[in-house]
Amino acid sequence: MSQRELIIAIDGPSGAGKSTLSRLLARILGYVNIDTGAMYRAVALQAHRLNVSPEDAAGLGRLCEGLRIEFERSEAGDRVLLNGEDVSEAIRTPEVSLLTSRVAACPCVRTALVRLQRSLGEQGGVVLEGRDIGTVVFPRAEAKFFLLASARERGHRRYLELKEKGLVVDLEQTIAEVEERDAADGAREHSPLLQAEDAVAIDSTGLSIEQVLEEMLQVVRARRRHSGLPDMPRGSTV
Ligand code: DC
Repeated sequence: MSQRELIIAIDGPSGAGKSTLSRLLARILGYVNIDTGAMYRAVALQAHRLNVSPEDAAGLGRLCEGLRIEFERSEAGDRVLLNGEDVSEAIRTPEVSLLTSRVAACPCVRTALVRLQRSLGEQGGVVLEGRDIGTVVFPRAEAKFFLLASARERGHRRYLELKEKGLVVDLEQTIAEVEERDAADGAREHSPLLQAEDAVAIDSTGLSIEQVLEEMLQVVRARRRHSGLPDMPRGSTV
C-alpha cells in the first residue's frame, strides 16, 4: 500500500516565524505550502473593496461563495491570486491586517475557508500554516507545531518586514498592533488561537531560523518513520 505523505500543521500568533518556516519545510520536503492567513486576508481585502462590513455575516457569506483564491508558486516567492488578480502585496497592508482579524471571527467565513483548506490538503504532502490547523482544519495531522515568540520580538520582526517593503511604520505602533491582533485572535468565540494538545511548541525568541528549522526537521523525521515513510536524506537542507 502506498503511504501518503504527511500533513504538517503550523500554528501560532502572528510574527512567530510561521510563514518563513513553513516555506522552508515545504521546500525541503517537496511539499505544497498553504498560507491560510493569506486566504483570510484575501476575504478581508474583498470585503473592504466591496464595502461589506466585518459585522455583516450574511454579506461575508455571499462574498465567500463567489471567491476564487489560488496560490501561484514562482521563483520570486508564492503569489496569492484573488479571482485571478495578484493581491500578494495588497493583502499585507496594516489596514487589511486589522480588518482580517475581524473578518476571520465570522463563522461563515471560517466554514468556507476551512472547507477549501481541507480540499487543498487532504491528499497529504502539505504544510499548512495558520491559527487553527492542528485543532480544527486537520486535527489528525501527523506533525503539529505551535510556534511562539514574545510580542515585542514578533512586533519587531513585522516592523522590519514592513520597512523593507518601503512602508512607513512606527515600531511601537507595530508592536501594539501585534498585541491587538493577538487579543482578537485569542478571544474570538469561533476557533480562537489555541495550541493543540499534541502540538510540539517551539519558542523562537532569541533563536535563529536555522535552529528552529532543525528542531522541526527532527520531529518530521520521527513522524515519517512512524508513518512508514522513507527517511529524508541526512542533512536535508534548503
Ligand atoms: O498569519 P496572518 O498574520 O497572515 O493571519 C492574518 C489574520 O488571519 C490573523 O488575524 C489571524 C487570522 N487567521 C485565522 O483566523 N485563522 C487562520 N487559520 C489563519 C489566519
